[in-house]
Amino acid sequence: MRTQVVIVGAGPSGLLLGQLLHKAGIDNVIVERQSADYVLGRIRAGVLEQVAVDVLDEAGVGQRMHAEGLPHEGFDLLFKGARHRIDLAGLTGGRKALVYGQTEVTRDLMAARAASGQTTVYEAAHVAIHGFDGAHPHVTYEKNGQTLRIDADFIAGCDGFHGVCRASVPGSAITEYEKVYPFGWLGLLSDTPPVHEELIYVNSPRGFALCSMRSRTRSRYYLQVPLSDTVDSWSDQAFWDELRRRLDPAAAETLVTGPSIEKSIAPLRSFVSEPMRFGRLLLAGDAAHIVPPTGAKGLNLAATDVKYLADALIEHFRERSDTGIDGYSERCLKRIWRAERFSWWFTSLMHRFPGEGEIAQKFQEAELDYLIHSEAGARTIAENYVGLPLDFGLRRA
Ligand code: APR
Ligand code: PHB
Repeated sequence: MRTQVVIVGAGPSGLLLGQLLHKAGIDNVIVERQSADYVLGRIRAGVLEQVAVDVLDEAGVGQRMHAEGLPHEGFDLLFKGARHRIDLAGLTGGRKALVYGQTEVTRDLMAARAASGQTTVYEAAHVAIHGFDGAHPHVTYEKNGQTLRIDADFIAGCDGFHGVCRASVPGSAITEYEKVYPFGWLGLLSDTPPVHEELIYVNSPRGFALCSMRSRTRSRYYLQVPLSDTVDSWSDQAFWDELRRRLDPAAAETLVTGPSIEKSIAPLRSFVSEPMRFGRLLLAGDAAHIVPPTGAKGLNLAATDVKYLADALIEHFRERSDTGIDGYSERCLKRIWRAERFSWWFTSLMHRFPGEGEIAQKFQEAELDYLIHSEAGARTIAENYVGLPLDFGLRRA
């Protein structure tokens, strides 16, 4: 088989790239290791920046997102037992966030993919990439006992943190920066009304908590837990009891509990690999970088990488110019490092770090107190939360 761009991975990055390229008349094939149902079963964050909303609109998959997504003009920070609102819209000239789950974004993209008529290979085993440092890149995989080959002009590595694309680059060509945090997030999804109409980020001496949502009837809650904990060691009742202890009295009173639909523990990591382009291989999304989920930047960064990548590939095929491809890595990394810094800072501010003692809690509370009482402080949080404009990666400064 031959195509213009072979995309490895059918997560949000790969599917979105496939859609943007298809809309521009560029032929592409997606090769995914898992089944579509497996991909849809992964529960991840659910807050979209305006920039990500715009890219999804451009890809033609925004209809349900606008109908069902919940615009949020602020969120609460809870510390020392009291809640304080960060007025996102008021502090950023009217910008806001849209609460719409990544699972739904993926579902919308899969529907658009099916309608596009472009080929998607699910359950492809032993995917391998070849020849990306020369003029003839290709991908091989196994399916139904056969080895198949796809030749293309470019390979897009959209295969997430554990994928094969980044791992296929010689170590001498890549620099990796990593920080692993000494705790995880235990998430619980339930068909219960959210405790509050906006998100609540909680700094508590018992550890971080987050009250989020997927709709007006479906809630998503998180607790900071030790990495040694397992999902089985947390009954639903134990989860709700612990969440209540980390909330303020009014929220604890309002909290509606119910059986979990999903419960999982996710580790927290900051990770960037540089550069993101190796000849005819271009990485995007989690394949190139990971942020801890505090601030929900993961999907947003993936969406902007993909937008830059689609623009660069369109320029290549339409105008026979590689300016966009040559500048791709630098353009992405500029905004990636900004988001990495914010996610690391917000994580550091809100979690208990083992072994750091009571004084660390006091420092965090004093910083939070400063941030919410200073307009400059509150604006710093709000600006970072709503995210950078799309043209940020193009600016010289
Ligand atoms: N071959 C083919 N596909 C693979 C391989 C492989 N060797 N390895 C991984 N994959 C697939 C995975 O099964 C997955 O479906 O690549 C896809 C990568 O998807 P994601 O991990 O969701 O990464 P991405 O599409 O970049 O999405 C970024 O996901 O993790 C969140 O915070 C992140 O929200 C952000 C978004
Ligand atoms: C979520 O809803 O899953 C979510 C929201 C905000 C975050 C992280 C996760 O910062």
